[in-house]
Amino acid sequence: MTDRIRVGVIGTGAMGTSHARMLARWVPGAQVVSVHDFDAGSAQRVAAELDAEPAGTAAELIEAVDAVVIAAPDPTHEELALACIAADRPVLCEKPLALDAEGAARVVAAEASQGRALVQVGFMRRYDPAFVALRQGVLGGQVGRPLVVHCVHRNAAAHPSATSDGIVSNSMIHELDCIPWLLGDAIAAITVTSPRVEGIRDPQVALLETVRGALVTVEVFVNAGYGYDVRCEVVGAAGTLRLTPPYGLAARAHGGDQVQVAADFVARFADAYRIELASWVDGLRRGEVDGPTAHDGYRAAVVAACGVESLHTGARVQVPQL
Ligand SMILES: NC(=O)c1ccc[n+]([C@@H]2O[C@H](COP(=O)([O-])OP(=O)(O)OC[C@H]3O[C@@H](n4cnc5c(N)ncnc54)[C@H](O)[C@@H]3O)[C@@H](O)[C@H]2O)c1
Repeated sequence: MTDRIRVGVIGTGAMGTSHARMLARWVPGAQVVSVHDFDAGSAQRVAAELDAEPAGTAAELIEAVDAVVIAAPDPTHEELALACIAADRPVLCEKPLALDAEGAARVVAAEASQGRALVQVGFMRRYDPAFVALRQGVLGGQVGRPLVVHCVHRNAAAHPSATSDGIVSNSMIHELDCIPWLLGDAIAAITVTSPRVEGIRDPQVALLETVRGALVTVEVFVNAGYGYDVRCEVVGAAGTLRLTPPYGLAARAHGGDQVQVAADFVARFADAYRIELASWVDGLRRGEVDGPTAHDGYRAAVVAACGVESLHTGARVQVPQL
């Protein structure tokens, strides 16, 4: 593939529309040629905006394009990723790779039997300039051995499909992928709890223990109300490194001093998505998939399954090392 990659996007909700626009406007090596959504009107609107064709079914779309972005809801990911692999189409699948670890393992196995890497998972924090700088500082030894990490992950309002288990397997999965990448270390055990015992168990707090002995706190609060807020601080033996609020605007007015908070993930991680998509397309033009792999998606799903077990039982759950 050396010409422009002809991409199809499945799911034209918040994430799919953002990906389709980013690809069409910011990734010169790509052309969005087809979009599909369960809601035909939504697909038609995005297709008209981007000069693409709406596809009647996902299968039609997969057949008509060089590569696929899956941004439909979580329960569709495994089946759509397997269909892309069967058709030998590279696919950028939004997280999570599947609803559970068994589903993610089936995707890994299908890709292996196809004989070439086709799957990238949408763990976009690995492309966020601030997270990349944080990782370089940590792995470069700037603050010595990492001892403690504090992560905060808040949404203004939950997606209508949010569930207690989904807070781990859909939201916290970002941290479950990011922490091993950030520290160059694996997660050895997880404990998840919530101050709410009835209804949706939100917020949740997890304690992750790494193989090398670092302790990581993760607060995920999907109904935080005030905005989308992702924070991370690494406490090392010789100092700390923390993300500062990016894309901020400070206002002093009406007797107050305020820093604006991003409304949602599209605003906060705009650069990350852009770089993720550009790097995915560059890789495809070289005939490679060089981002987070299906195996990374599987590894995160295994930790998430342990986290869900802990949320239900209250127990500290040991994570199998893959
Ligand atoms: N990486 C990230 O930062 C990030 C952020 C948000 C969402 N996501 C992921 O992206 C996916 C979509 O999330 P969203 O926030 O855009 O949700 P959304 O509800 O805004 O959009 C989902 C879209 O998929 C469509 N859809 C439903 N079933 C379908 C099917 N079977 N085939 C085709 N289309 C179908 C819906 O009509 C809707 O337009 C989820 O898996 C979510 O976990 C990732």
